Amino acid sequence: MASKQVSRIGVLTSGGDAPGMNAAVRAVVRTGIYHGMEMFGIMRGYNGMIEDEIIPMNSRSVANIIQRGGTILKTARSKEFFEVEGRKKAYDNLLKHGIDGLVIIGGDGSFTGAQKFSNEFDIPCIGLPGTIDKDIAGTDFTIGFDTAVNTAVEAIDKIRDTADAHDRLFIVEVMGRDAGYIALHSGIATGAENILIPETKTDIEELIASLTEKEKRKKLVNLIVVAEGDEFGGANEIAVIIKQRLPNADTKVCILGHIQRGGSPTCIDRLIASRMGYHAVECLLNGKHNVMVGIQNNKMNYIPLDTAVKAKQKISSEWFKIVKILAS
Ligand code: F6P
Repeated sequence: MASKQVSRIGVLTSGGDAPGMNAAVRAVVRTGIYHGMEMFGIMRGYNGMIEDEIIPMNSRSVANIIQRGGTILKTARSKEFFEVEGRKKAYDNLLKHGIDGLVIIGGDGSFTGAQKFSNEFDIPCIGLPGTIDKDIAGTDFTIGFDTAVNTAVEAIDKIRDTADAHDRLFIVEVMGRDAGYIALHSGIATGAENILIPETKTDIEELIASLTEKEKRKKLVNLIVVAEGDEFGGANEIAVIIKQRLPNADTKVCILGHIQRGGSPTCIDRLIASRMGYHAVECLLNGKHNVMVGIQNNKMNYIPLDTAVKAKQKISSEWFKIVKILAS
């Protein structure tokens, strides 16, 4: 690990936005200022580094944002940063502003970029896990997950009301291209009968058998929560199969989509974003470089950025046993 003394920090948000990113930006900027550092906001993820959209920030720049969803710094998935020419341009712009440390709030794709950049140009980088998907190892929380899952729960509760009124089978699709955490947590919390996620093999025959058995005993209200990245596809694809096999079931589809990414962050997301943002600056100050700041068992956990990229969180199979027993 490098141990250069850092005095000018750039902060950026990258990848899909997540509620709580603003709280993290606020924490990074204000902790840096507390330590007498100069702080810069980099707009639109890595694109802002490449295009020199870099602005000085002070305490007031981050006033009145802790409660706001989205990100005041904007965000993007930068293709150019994945090319060495893009990263060189970005480095030249950092030099121009004298920026000697970076805090990147984003997901695993953003950390891959940070690790490459740091290897090439020796700029220390700290990653903060900001993604609604919670698909990063080494942390019990990612910024935005709690808000997204609560948004999904609120919506699914409403769907259950109308499903109950009409005796309907609803297939609700939640976000999660590669990860099923939103589906798993929101499904359990709303009493879903089935939860389909990319991490486990979906047994469609077992699903049909369980719905048939419920139909026989006149349990007509059923909620299936599916992550968009399930191997059978999202809610529409599952609905086609169910409608063919169970033509008598009154089957409806609801895709929650991007409402899960917006909204005011929950208290938990504000807390973890504030704590992680504070520790990101402490890391840069103390020479703990190129790590992701996580929280595990209520303690700070620092994992090398490249490890955070490769490892995924594991989903315990016990959850599925619980779902089956509780949805009977
Ligand atoms: O932020 C992660 C995520 O929400 C995934 O679950 C989803 O598939 C993806 O972002 C969608 O991203 P975008 O709207 O930027 O295409």
